[in-house]
Amino acid sequence: MKVILFLCLSCILTVGRAQDDDYVVNNKYFPDKFMFGCATASYQGAWDEDGKGQNIWDNLTHTLSRTAYRKIRTMETWPCYVKENWVLTTIGFSISWSGKYLPTGFPYKINEAGVQYYRNFIKELKDNGIEPLVTIFHWDTPQGLHEVGGWLSEFIVDYYAEYARIVFQLFGDDVKYWLTFNEPKQTCQQGYGSGEKAPFVQSHGLGEYICTHILLKAHAKAWHIYDDEFRPTQNGLVGITIDTPWFEPNTTSDEDLEASERQLQFEFGWYANPIFNGDYPEIMKTRIANRSALEGFQTSRLPEFTQEEIDFINGTFDYLGLNHYSTYMVSAMPEPEIGDPSWEKDTGIAVFQDPSWEGSASDWVKVTPWGMRKILKWVKETYNNPAIIITENGISDNGTLSEDLDDESFRSHYYKYYLSYLRDAMIEDGVNVFGYTVWSLMDNFEWTRGYTEKFGLYQVDFSSGNRTRTPKKSATYYSKVISTRCLVDTCEEE
Ligand SMILES: *[C@@H]1O[C@H](CO)[C@@H](O)[C@H](O)[C@H]1NC(C)=O
Ligand SMILES: *[C@@H]1O[C@H](CO)[C@@H](O)[C@H](O)[C@H]1NC(C)=O
Ligand SMILES: *[C@@H]1O[C@H](CO)[C@@H](O)[C@H](O)[C@H]1NC(C)=O
Ligand SMILES: *[C@@H]1O[C@H](CO)[C@@H](O)[C@H](O)[C@H]1NC(C)=O
Ligand SMILES: *[C@@H]1O[C@H](CO)[C@@H](O)[C@H](O)[C@H]1NC(C)=O
Ligand SMILES: *[C@@H]1O[C@H](CO)[C@@H](O)[C@H](O)[C@H]1NC(C)=O
Repeated sequence: MKVILFLCLSCILTVGRAQDDDYVVNNKYFPDKFMFGCATASYQGAWDEDGKGQNIWDNLTHTLSRTAYRKIRTMETWPCYVKENWVLTTIGFSISWSGKYLPTGFPYKINEAGVQYYRNFIKELKDNGIEPLVTIFHWDTPQGLHEVGGWLSEFIVDYYAEYARIVFQLFGDDVKYWLTFNEPKQTCQQGYGSGEKAPFVQSHGLGEYICTHILLKAHAKAWHIYDDEFRPTQNGLVGITIDTPWFEPNTTSDEDLEASERQLQFEFGWYANPIFNGDYPEIMKTRIANRSALEGFQTSRLPEFTQEEIDFINGTFDYLGLNHYSTYMVSAMPEPEIGDPSWEKDTGIAVFQDPSWEGSASDWVKVTPWGMRKILKWVKETYNNPAIIITENGISDNGTLSEDLDDESFRSHYYKYYLSYLRDAMIEDGVNVFGYTVWSLMDNFEWTRGYTEKFGLYQVDFSSGNRTRTPKKSATYYSKVISTRCLVDTCEEE
């Protein structure tokens, strides 16, 4: 086994994509009950202008100068999959905290027309045999809550919990799969640490830890509310979606193996470990405490949970949503110098991608499908085999070029290989994966990248009045995968 691993490592390093050439795509049927679908997010598609309140992304994108990055009005996303008559078994979408039905973000004002909008939408999905997979929070903090501290204020825990309760009350009879947060690392590390995403707070090595500490309590509180008040009658499941790449050790040295594990703990364990095991990973606790002391802080920059909080957060999941796109290489490096703190220095690891890997319009997405199997196996082994749904996986093209429609060797290839390694993980490693939703159904607004990176199975002509949608070839491929439950021309039973 070890020898094979060594050989593979060197071939990744030297020939990149070539690894795919000898790889045989999995030809075993996916199980009947496996959920296939598409993912979307409230803010990135439909623009609920009428009666919708402002959130931190509205505020940000409306102040940006480059039009390519400004949010424009798009069509409602949902008629598409009904009209196209796909056999999707699930569709992922998020509810907007300050959306039509809850314009201020606070429950004192509920807009019945907005409630009806979501009810109709959910009913339409169910009438078409599509299971809604609903994310309660996908980055769109109401502007009003941001202005009193947002995710740096403990008060948001109760406001978020109240919002979650309203959503369970209003829609929970028809929704069985809930996700409290999508990619909390993007909210906290990018929103309050590096400051690359809304609300653009730059507080390296401090803000992201405070945000995470508060967000984890909000997650746990929503889970408990569901568990105590709604589960007995609604009988659904509540999870959280955490994103992570796979981190491949650069060499097989003990230091690089440790670097891979440490990076996974800093990216994924930071959120998963408190929820699955009750507290932050030990390696984060000791490294951040050590560095904080050397920097002259009186206490660790990583806040501590009380035992009561640990007991409250520990075990607050029914399943895990995993967003996975790509892989990075990691290698050990000398301890970063003490100076201004940062999350990157706290990890103390060199992270890079192999230039030979096939790229995409997004600099962070390289075609590395073998990473899918590795991350699934790692999650299974590290967190005691949870039920997993891949909630996002996909690749971007540059835009509205007609060539982008012909994406058979690009996006179809990506999906085929990622799904194949996912199926391998289920069969060979016994990982409990029960579903997969691609990112994304349609080209949409990619946050700070605006309309420059297109992940859709459908191309959207944003310059046409009716935002004309055209299926890319990958839409046909994915649709066939869903209807045949098979990645290749013919499949066999497991
Ligand atoms: C964004 O919010 C700030 C207050 O935080 C406000 O002064 C500003 O007008 C808002 N900008 C836009 C474009 O809405
Ligand atoms: C990765 O490993 C190779 C040897 O296989 C070495 O030459 C290179 O310097 C390493 N990269 C880093 C960033 O450590
Ligand atoms: C979390 O719960 C598990 C299972 O009940 C228990 O074994 C573990 O010790 C708890 N974690 C902490 C940090 O208390
Ligand atoms: C933390 O500091 C102690 C004492 O300086 C040291 O022994 C230990 O190895 C450090 N741990 C980590 C994870 O850096
Ligand atoms: C996007 O365009 C750049 C050049 O502008 C090119 O290098 C890259 O290959 C393109 N990516 C895709 C996925 O087409
Ligand atoms: C709207 O879409 C139709 C195709 O469904 C197309 O023929 C028409 O030109 C589009 N209109 C505009 C304004 O883009």
